[in-house]
Amino acid sequence: MEKIIIEGGARLIGDIAISGSKNSALPIFASTILSQSPNTFHNVPNLRDIATIQKVLANLGIRVTRKKKGVARIDSSGLSGHEAPYDLVKTMRASILVLGPLISRRGKAVVSLPGGCAIGARPVNLHLRGLEALGAKIELKHGYIYAKANGLKGGHIYLDVPTVTGTENLMMAAALAQGKTVIENAAQEPEVEELAVVLNKMGAKISGGGTSLLEIDGVDELGGTEHTIMPDRIEAGTLMVAAGLTQGNLRLMNCPLSSLDAVVNKLQEAGLEIQSDGETVTVVGNNRIRSVDVKTLPYPGFPTDMQAQIMVFMCLARGLSVISETVFENRFIHVSELRRMGADIKVESNSAIVSGVKQLSGAQVMATDLRASASLVLAGLAAEGITEVARVYHLDRGYDQLEKKLVRVGAQIKRIKT
Ligand code: EPU
Repeated sequence: MEKIIIEGGARLIGDIAISGSKNSALPIFASTILSQSPNTFHNVPNLRDIATIQKVLANLGIRVTRKKKGVARIDSSGLSGHEAPYDLVKTMRASILVLGPLISRRGKAVVSLPGGCAIGARPVNLHLRGLEALGAKIELKHGYIYAKANGLKGGHIYLDVPTVTGTENLMMAAALAQGKTVIENAAQEPEVEELAVVLNKMGAKISGGGTSLLEIDGVDELGGTEHTIMPDRIEAGTLMVAAGLTQGNLRLMNCPLSSLDAVVNKLQEAGLEIQSDGETVTVVGNNRIRSVDVKTLPYPGFPTDMQAQIMVFMCLARGLSVISETVFENRFIHVSELRRMGADIKVESNSAIVSGVKQLSGAQVMATDLRASASLVLAGLAAEGITEVARVYHLDRGYDQLEKKLVRVGAQIKRIKT
């Protein structure tokens, strides 16, 4: 087991390069199941979740070669399997992303049903209903999804909620279906848009990527492509908060500012100075944090993946802030840990009412999900004294070398084995 130890109080000053996006790379890796020729991706982040999707693909006979840092060559010519087993899906729910492409390309798929997780029940009913609308026959038994199709056919799908991985799964399934598919109330996240771009580069005919209405004209086959994964907007947002909390001055290189409008607006309202010069963004914090209210929403709203981080910021703001979580039903697991560090937070149904305090104090903490763990690291950077964050593997799922990047800008942070 590893822990991160932080001595709080250091101002963070310097340059940090944002890594490739986890939630973009995962569906893009899954999309290679559809492709007849090798694909090459650049700016692939070095993350535990990427290692997991590679295992899921390897289990299907797909070869992923990582010779150079950040580059992945994926060759699906050996595709022979159609199963994503429980052992892999339980470590990463996003393994469900192979379901759509497998039914489409292989006519069958057996994928373990992801269970609930620390942040909510997270059903996949909309993925399954959408696939049925394209002609798949689906049975659930023994904890697995058994799906079959004798050639998918285009269909009309309305998503009750704009599910991100659901939209991605259905877009990939429809890419090789016969005829036209329309997906209404599709997720508009930039990661969904990027998947549409990559599929189109492989030869798909998808229009409306990044909007709530997707139109997909099925094609007979997809070829290979080369693509650079976009930078991770949540990593960038997390580091902006780090600058704010430490009264720092960070230059974020390769920062995807255009996909961060909702976050940047709130952080500026709270008093952070954020200025952009092309792909470099300078973030300057000061010692007066203003309280702001935040409500998480699907894109382009404020991302649920930044809720825990902005809550830490509000813990040190002047006044009262109300943070409402509307995307997941149980995403406040960081609250009890932040309270142990001196935060004043009350939870009432899906809202957290945060009264700013003058100082947080270092403590031993742990969290059971990725963004909650990131929020504890942020709290540790600002707190007086030493913070020990356990269960670091959650962080490694989604942040590429976080503590190394922070050390370079002056943080007193290290990883130890316990
Ligand atoms: N939902 C349903 N039925 C479904 C699918 C979703 O009711 O069939 C509900 C969920 O329970 C939730 C809401 O719809 O209440 C939105 O969930 P969504 O399906 O959009 O989430 P996801 O696709 O499972 C992705 C990201 C998450 C991110 C959410 C929301 C990936 C690999 N994961 O999850 O990222 O929080 O969208 O933006 O893209 C993270 O990176 O830490 C993370 C959790």
